[in-house]
Amino acid sequence: MDPRPYQHDDYDFMKRTLTSMKNYRDDNRISYKHRSLSVCPLQHQTKLMDAGYGDYLKNVTDCIENNQIVLDEILAFAESQMDVSTEGKEIKTLSQDHSRVRELFRQIVREWCEEGRDERRQSFAPLLDELNSLYPDEKARASVRILVPGCGLARLPFDIALAGFHCLANEQSYHMLMTAEFILNRCERTAKYRIYPWVHNLTNVLNANDITAPVAFPDISPTQTPDGFQLEVLPGDFSDVCRPENLEQPVSCVVTSFFLDSAHNVLDFIKLIGDALEPGGFWLNLGPLNYVYAGFSDVEMSIQLTWETLRESIVEAGFKFVKESFVDNSYGSNERSMTAVQYKCPFFVCQKK
Ligand SMILES: C[S@@+](CC[C@H](N)C(=O)[O-])C[C@H]1O[C@@H](n2cnc3c(N)ncnc32)[C@H](O)[C@@H]1O
Repeated sequence: MDPRPYQHDDYDFMKRTLTSMKNYRDDNRISYKHRSLSVCPLQHQTKLMDAGYGDYLKNVTDCIENNQIVLDEILAFAESQMDVSTEGKEIKTLSQDHSRVRELFRQIVREWCEEGRDERRQSFAPLLDELNSLYPDEKARASVRILVPGCGLARLPFDIALAGFHCLANEQSYHMLMTAEFILNRCERTAKYRIYPWVHNLTNVLNANDITAPVAFPDISPTQTPDGFQLEVLPGDFSDVCRPENLEQPVSCVVTSFFLDSAHNVLDFIKLIGDALEPGGFWLNLGPLNYVYAGFSDVEMSIQLTWETLRESIVEAGFKFVKESFVDNSYGSNERSMTAVQYKCPFFVCQKK
């Protein structure tokens, strides 16, 4: 897939994203200093050093150094594609941007690593299986346009395009977009890069190795695609980019994975999905109702509908439920940690009447 120029005009936002990636190592160094041995009396410090705690922290810092090397490659690629640079005056990272960089590493594991295979089997496989049974004629799939809003690092759209469909991948986060473009265009061989995604959280760790072991990506070579492979990236806010007037024509199908709860007003998303679809088109959804703006201030918060009300709203918006169930899913989990995030997600297929 050829890299496409970014169309988003929010220059400052883009620059903030680049800054957070450029400053990653230094931003983390500060937080590790806080966790350092300075809180202990000398006697405890000596004991901990004898027990290897100093080596452990040093390993964590080395992992962060290595993560920065990968981020620098992503940055260099992004800068070559955009009219924006991190050169010049030092700028501080905003805390929310810093969290996004840390989340980015976990998202790479979920979407493009061998270690994310189980999550993809739980989240993406049911959607792909459903698409394959809705459109069994493989030759006809090239003219079936499928929209995937909030696609993260574009693995689901990539797999949909690999199955022969024409896939439109929408995403608004620059962290995701830059990294997705990097993976899709610059990762010619499997396991080309190694990251240390778990070193940002030193709680619930059984063994040091559980967080300092490298994870390789990508698990497949995304640059080797079959003839006729159709994957288009639509950068920007779903609410703008996927309005009917901005899509060339209605799509046959919309596929949402862990996306609906990203809305401030989920009813807007339902309406947009309906507007994007051709009559008789399908909407496949899998994901929890972990409304991401739930804890935000009044202006930014989200309406937090129950599944029952949300389901009614979908029917009222002109959809017929064709299939529905609940499936267990985890998200961004380190299998070796003492803790994991587990959801019971609504999974449905709806048809626009
Ligand atoms: C929880 S992640 C899910 C990513 C991917 N679909 C998956 O299942 O792994 C939600 C994604 O939606 C994106 N997103 C949130 N609001 C969006 C919007 N209004 N337009 C486009 N993307 C959005 C976020 O940046 C994030 O990458």
